[in-house]
Amino acid sequence: MRIEGSTVLVTGANRGIGRAFVSAFLARGARRVHAAARNTAALEPVVAEAPDRVVPLALDLTDPATVEAAAAAASDVTLLVNNAGTHGMGHLLDMDLGVVEDVMRTNYLGTLRVLRAFAPVVERNGGGAVANVISIGAFAGTPSLGGYPASKAALHLMTQAVRADLAPRGITVHAVFPGPVETDMFDYAVRCEPALGEFPRTSAAEVAAAVIDGLEAGEEDIFPDAFAAEIGREWRADPKALERRLMHI
Ligand SMILES: NC(=O)c1ccc[n+]([C@@H]2O[C@H](COP(=O)([O-])OP(=O)(O)OC[C@H]3O[C@@H](n4cnc5c(N)ncnc54)[C@H](OP(=O)(O)O)[C@@H]3O)[C@@H](O)[C@H]2O)c1
Repeated sequence: MRIEGSTVLVTGANRGIGRAFVSAFLARGARRVHAAARNTAALEPVVAEAPDRVVPLALDLTDPATVEAAAAAASDVTLLVNNAGTHGMGHLLDMDLGVVEDVMRTNYLGTLRVLRAFAPVVERNGGGAVANVISIGAFAGTPSLGGYPASKAALHLMTQAVRADLAPRGITVHAVFPGPVETDMFDYAVRCEPALGEFPRTSAAEVAAAVIDGLEAGEEDIFPDAFAAEIGREWRADPKALERRLMHI
């Protein structure tokens, strides 16, 4: 996927990795970036970065009406970056089941909803790419992370399934597996489970740049930081060893 001249849509663009994606796509020559967020007022500083190239867009993954409206408004998209996601820390046997449902509704069903709305848009524009931001959390059922690993594992398998379906329509589908990234989400996770603080973190800007490199290189599975690459190798070599490594967190 060539970024220069492309039209990108980034979900969750108001903060964290999503915001870093917007800056990185601008720097790499994207023609236009649709910056999508639940609260468009929070996009003001993002649009201010390049008012002629950044378009604010209202989009809540869990609200079908906003997703349909976004797909109608951003009709020139050639690269969809499904970045938005949520977390709910706790242990599955005793945490609020509503939080587990919300994480699955957002990370799995919400991302699928956005993809279903935008695949025809990308196809009409002559083909392009989709990047789903998953997590190394998808590779093992880490106990303190509540429903998050399952939601990301579901997103991983969905990514594989739609990759096969979208290939004949001229759309490549890329899975992104970041390790810990310095954002609100990881700060929150460490506050809930201090043992997570032992893992090395990468900046959102570095992750965004590495994902773009992976997209340009045509990588299907992108591990955008060194720790993610290490976990990815361990998962491929010995998933049981990885489960045991993470079972105390
Ligand atoms: N940080 C990490 O260590 C890490 C590691 C691996 C993967 N990831 C993944 O990377 C992605 C970005 O995470 P982040 O670290 O940047 O998290 P973050 O700082 O918490 O930002 C999350 C973004 O997702 C948006 N969002 C949440 N629910 C949404 C919904 N229903 N509809 C639309 N937008 C919604 C948030 O919008 P609001 O501002 O409105 O809440 C925010 O823009 C997520 O998919 C996350 O799972 C993160």
